[in-house]
Amino acid sequence: MSAISADAPGKIILFGEHAVVYGRPAIAVPVLQVRAHVEVYARPQALAGEVHLQAPDVDLDAWLADLPGDQPLARVVREVLQDLSLSKCPACNIHITSTIPVASGLGSGAAVSVAVIRALSAFLGNPLPDEKVSAIAFEVEKLYHGMPSGIDNNVITYARPVFFVRGYPIESLRLPRPFTIVIGDTGVSSPTSLAVGDVRRLWQIDPARYEGVFDQIGRIAQLARKSIENGEPEHLGTLMNENQVHLRYIGVSSPELESLIEVAMAAGALGAKLSGAGRGGNMIALAEPEKANEVARALEEAGAVRTIVTVVGSKGNEEMGRLGDKEIRGLEGKKKEGR
Ligand code: MEV
Repeated sequence: MSAISADAPGKIILFGEHAVVYGRPAIAVPVLQVRAHVEVYARPQALAGEVHLQAPDVDLDAWLADLPGDQPLARVVREVLQDLSLSKCPACNIHITSTIPVASGLGSGAAVSVAVIRALSAFLGNPLPDEKVSAIAFEVEKLYHGMPSGIDNNVITYARPVFFVRGYPIESLRLPRPFTIVIGDTGVSSPTSLAVGDVRRLWQIDPARYEGVFDQIGRIAQLARKSIENGEPEHLGTLMNENQVHLRYIGVSSPELESLIEVAMAAGALGAKLSGAGRGGNMIALAEPEKANEVARALEEAGAVRTIVTVVGSKGNEEMGRLGDKEIRGLEGKKKEGR
C-alpha cells in the first residue's frame, strides 16, 4: 500500500545559541544531508483511532492510545488531530526514521515533529501550512526543554538560513557568497534541557552578569548577519571564535568540544565553536572550500564520530536531497555514553 511521506532536515546554529532564549538574535541554517523521514500508511481493515507508531531509531513501537500525554511523538499526533478538529484519527501506521543524531545539537526532535506534522496532515487530506507546522513543532519542543526559543522549529520548517529573534517573525538571510562549514560530532549525547536549565540557574543567581554576556553574543550575531549579507563570510571565523569564548564562559562547552575546536583550528579552519546547546553534540568550523575535507579528516582522526561538510547558500543545498552521501562521513559512528 502506498504511503504519504514527508522529510525534514537537521539544523546548526551558526551564532547566538542560549542567548536566543533570552531574546537576543541568532542565526541558524538547515543541514540537508541529515533528515527525519516519516511515512503514514492507512490500515483499511482497522477501526478509527487505531494509530500505531514505530520509530526504530529510539526503540518505539506502540499504540497511540497507550502513550502518555507528555510522550513527544504522541503529543505531535494529538496536536495535529486537535488542529484539524478530529476527535479520532483514521486507522494508520506512522513510521519514523531519522539520520539526525539525537541530543547532539542538530535539531533531531524538531525535525521529527515537523516531518510527522507534514506527513500526518497530508494523510488526513489537509496539509498544514508552514506557519502551523512550526507552531505545533514549537509546542512539542516545550516537552524537550521547558522554554525553547523557537529557533529550531523555525529553521527546520522553513529549511533556509534564518536570522531569528524570539517572538518575532523569522527573517531570511541574503547569501551573496556561499561559505563552507565543517560539522564535527563529539559523539557525546547532551539533552538540550540540561544545558538550558543550567544556564538558567546561573542567570538567576547573577542576572546582570549573564544579561551582559547575552548582549555580547547578540552583538556577534548582528555582526555575523552583516558579514553574511555583505558577501564577506570570511569574517565569520573571528566571530565564531569570539562567540565560543562566551559559550565557554556560561559553562556549556566541554573537553570533547574544546578538543575538536582546537583540532579544526590547527587543521586550518578560519574559526570554530560549539553549535546548539553544547556540553557535547556537535561543533562547527568555517573553512575555505579547498581546506574543508582536510579539516573533516583531522576531526575524525581526533575522535569525531561523524563529520559533515555543508555549503551554506549554495543552490544545491537549498533543495532537499540534492547532496550526495559522500559529504557525510561516519554515519554509522557509535554514540559514546551520555554524561
Ligand atoms: C538549541 O538548538 C538552541 C538553544 O539556544 C535552545 C533554544 O534556542 O531553544 C540552546
